Amino acid sequence: MSNDRSNSSDSEIFAELIAARCSRRDFLRGGVAAGAAISLGTSFLEAFPISSSASALLGFKGVPISTADTITIAEGYSAKVLIAWGDPVSTGPAFLQDASNNAADQEQQWGMHNDGLAYFPIDGSRRGLLVQNNEYFDAGLLFPDGTANWTAEKTSKSLAAHGVSIIEIRKGNHWQVVRPSKYARRITASTPMRVSGAAAGDSRMVTSADPSGKLVLGTLHNCAIGVTPWKTFLSCEENLEDYFRTPAPPRPGSIEARYGLDTEGEGYLIHTTEKRFRVADEPNEPNRFGWVVEIDPFRPGSVPVKRTALGRIKHEGACVRETRDGRVVVLMGDDEEFEYIYRYVSTLPWRTARKRGVSPLDEGTLSVAKFNADGSGRWLALNPSNPVLNNWSMSDILINTRGAGDAVGATKMDRPEWIDAFPNALTAIVSLTNNTSRGQAKQVGSDWINPRSPNPYGHLVRWFHREDWDEPDFRWDIFALGGDPQVGAHHSSIVGDKYAAPDGLYVAPSGRIWLQTDVTKSSINEGPYSGFGNNQMLCIDSKTRETRRFMVGPRRCELTGCRVTPDEKTMFVGVQHPGEAPKGTNNAADPKRFSSWPDGPNGGRPRSACIVITKDDGGVIGS
Ligand code: FEO
Ligand code: CA
Ligand code: CA
Repeated sequence: MSNDRSNSSDSEIFAELIAARCSRRDFLRGGVAAGAAISLGTSFLEAFPISSSASALLGFKGVPISTADTITIAEGYSAKVLIAWGDPVSTGPAFLQDASNNAADQEQQWGMHNDGLAYFPIDGSRRGLLVQNNEYFDAGLLFPDGTANWTAEKTSKSLAAHGVSIIEIRKGNHWQVVRPSKYARRITASTPMRVSGAAAGDSRMVTSADPSGKLVLGTLHNCAIGVTPWKTFLSCEENLEDYFRTPAPPRPGSIEARYGLDTEGEGYLIHTTEKRFRVADEPNEPNRFGWVVEIDPFRPGSVPVKRTALGRIKHEGACVRETRDGRVVVLMGDDEEFEYIYRYVSTLPWRTARKRGVSPLDEGTLSVAKFNADGSGRWLALNPSNPVLNNWSMSDILINTRGAGDAVGATKMDRPEWIDAFPNALTAIVSLTNNTSRGQAKQVGSDWINPRSPNPYGHLVRWFHREDWDEPDFRWDIFALGGDPQVGAHHSSIVGDKYAAPDGLYVAPSGRIWLQTDVTKSSINEGPYSGFGNNQMLCIDSKTRETRRFMVGPRRCELTGCRVTPDEKTMFVGVQHPGEAPKGTNNAADPKRFSSWPDGPNGGRPRSACIVITKDDGGVIGS
């Protein structure tokens, strides 16, 4: 989904960056003009050389741009639908192609618009649990008559289409969903969840239905993911503002304004029948969303927990790493123009915490990233011990994490999406999908880490620690600037096939970076994106940066979520919102106007789905 802007704070010290930039302008220009990646800091370059030899990891022949309503995949590979929106997760009711399944059916069926996913092995690369987020919904496809005649039942089905879907899968001759399965489960926007961490029970978390401030119904806009070393799934709540309606435009400077709430939301109608989505009736309900939710897929009866210690932002994902002594580090992006990148480090090693019966995700240090012009960077602590925040309580910081980031002077980024880390290295990589507002009227201009204004094509940034993931300082560089490297005006530094709006990003254990694009629905193959075709997935060699297009999705979809099995011979990929209308919801009277994937002429409407990719010779994906 597209994200606009809620940050009007003036936290960056731009004079410093601009001064530094001017003195190095020739270097920047030279780098861009030569089509080379922009790197900063010679000491960094010596420490982390980039190989210029051809990639040994990219063994497939790239596919061209496509505008076809199908999956176009590299020769020698097959892609099959594993499960699609509305298919039963276990032995529930089948999907009805006219979308006439009711809310109770949907509660037993794969949710809509699947996003980040994870594979949890039960028997290595042959059997496991597949867990995938269901980010948002399209009422034009969810109901036979779309948004017409809205009822409480329609609200219930809409809420049931959100959340997380868990299935058990097994590989025989091919991958199949196990039905029935004791693990199969739907978690929805109505499932009771516990709240933990310092913000739990805060007065701003209390509603008329929940005087404790510790028990929330459901999870919303679940975008990207994380996986913990103790084998739980982290589901990240992103654009919470879409669901709520304020009675009047929020006061400038209020928490509501900082999180982008307004009188219209995304235009959904759920507030008409469920009062918790009307801010006038339940002013604190929005504060109960925007968190990271922990789910144990191996315990189907377990209650999901919103871990407030990880902060409240429009969470994209949660990349989990361990320090040398076993504390967990969670790297997180806040996906909106000019928002920040965050890090959480647990106080206790995770094994110690769990032995004591506490969660490693409930007590730790939250920080926000400051990227300096000289290629250095620093994590700025977000807690009351930071002198800038000594008037803030910990729950103030956790409920208004964005405001705390403003106060300490974090670096405003071009929409931080997925983050992952390189194998056996202290290197993280983040996709910054785009920022068409940078440098526009009254907006912040370019800086060293976000060097293009406006930035429709997005870029990838890396950062590096020297000794351990919890260090306060790091170095950073730009890994690639998106766009078409053949078109000088794009200033792209891609080594290989063009792409725009990088979003989904997954580094496989082999070092292959899998990158998925999300050109937004209003601009696919149009304007600055014309010639980029449908959204696509590319493979990048993390050492040589060589970039090759592996797959193109069907029309008007976004590719979301990617994981391989431990042997890297099976890949799971999400195909989200095929056939999405350029504006608003789909037309219920003509649901197949833009796409009929995956069911084709016999289907009633396009459906988001999780697909399985295998190599025809049984080899490693990408080889
Ligand atoms: Fe849900 Fe930032 O994409
Ligand atoms: Ca995303
Ligand atoms: Ca996106």
